[in-house]
Amino acid sequence: MAIRLIVKHPDPVLRERAKEVTKFNANLHKLLDDMADTMYDADGVGLAAPQVGILKRVFVVDADEEHGLIELINPEIVSMEGEQLGAEGCLSIPGLQGDVKRANKVVIKGQDRYGNPVQYEGTELLARAFQHELDHLNGVLFIDLAESVYEARKLAPEQDGE
Ligand code: NI
Repeated sequence: MAIRLIVKHPDPVLRERAKEVTKFNANLHKLLDDMADTMYDADGVGLAAPQVGILKRVFVVDADEEHGLIELINPEIVSMEGEQLGAEGCLSIPGLQGDVKRANKVVIKGQDRYGNPVQYEGTELLARAFQHELDHLNGVLFIDLAESVYEARKLAPEQDGE
């Protein structure tokens, strides 16, 4: 396990569409382990593979006590419900945050590190993290969606960067 360098905006890798994962092997497991280390080291609640320069459809989130660390490969939204407007940040865009409208409840499916199908339901911060990280896999950043972007205040722990 190791901490990887987080790619910062405007690096073009953050604007690419990440590729589907087809091999659930030791390389993928090392990537996932490193991504979790890197996310925790940076006090984030989510991290997508393009943020460490790897264009694969992989992200990790840890946004609530109930679920803890979630690893998701080849994620797809199954359903979205409701609406929330809140402050969002990104580990790739330090110093800025913005108010972004997101669905308040999301069901998302994908695969675990062994290729088994998995599905999660998230509300509030976890739902926001799912949407934010999935956007990263499509080259979309929160600054593209924000109603306003401003200098980051000292964030409450639950609003840390993704
Ligand atoms: Ni982000």
